[in-house]
Amino acid sequence: MTTVISLADVCRIFPTEPPVHALSDVTLEVPPKDYLAIVGPSGSGKSTLLNTLGLLDRPTGGSYRLDGVETTDLSDGERTALRGSRIGFVFQSFHLLATRTVEENVMLAELYRKHDRRRRRKRALDALDRVGMGHRVGFTPDRLSGGERQRVAIARAIGGDPALLLCDEPTGNLDSDNTASVLDLFDELREQGLTIVVITHDDVVSGRADRVVRINDGRLT
Ligand SMILES: Nc1ncnc2c1ncn2[C@@H]1O[C@H](COP(=O)(O)OP(=O)(O)OP(=O)(O)O)[C@@H](O)[C@H]1O
Ligand SMILES: [Mg+2]
Repeated sequence: MTTVISLADVCRIFPTEPPVHALSDVTLEVPPKDYLAIVGPSGSGKSTLLNTLGLLDRPTGGSYRLDGVETTDLSDGERTALRGSRIGFVFQSFHLLATRTVEENVMLAELYRKHDRRRRRKRALDALDRVGMGHRVGFTPDRLSGGERQRVAIARAIGGDPALLLCDEPTGNLDSDNTASVLDLFDELREQGLTIVVITHDDVVSGRADRVVRINDGRLT
């Protein structure tokens, strides 16, 4: 099987005065179904790395192959299309729309795909079943617990059947019970074939990963 993520000597220099070397010679391979945690102090380059992996930011040097495809020389449009079909994102603060129902929040993720509404609805309901939220489809987010909100956000992330789930502090706003339920869900998703990369400060989260890499001053250690 093709390596999902293959970074070789990736650099990201922000052109400030003086320039910031946010990533320096980062080399990393993530095979399919891996569950990788990235840990490091504030300002060490974790979000920059995640943005790079998510094709939200472009390295200033080096190579990033996603599913075998070299991404650094793709056009912005090609990168957006690849991101939409291959990558799901989960953030600390859920980013759910307050006035929309659970079902609508998940459906909106696929709006750009131009599937008809019935098909999007079916895929949204399937994703909500996968995360154990099929009984809350008509709720608005304010009536859900933090853990339930994060599970809805995860349903939105996996609705388009991505290969890779990128998570930035996914349990940062959750208590220990809700953290445990999100981590159980990650285990299930991985059994279903997803590759997961998580940035976290939480030892409970990194403890559940297969592998932990540390980043310091933009370098993996
Ligand atoms: N747009 C930017 N322009 C200039 N410097 C930046 C920019 N974005 C990030 N940086 C710098 O790059 C470094 C890495 O930032 P990054 O956000 O990746 O850190 P982080 O590990 O995610 O930190 P935290 O744990 O606080 O979220 C920091 O020194 C930061 O100040
Ligand atoms: Mg960050």
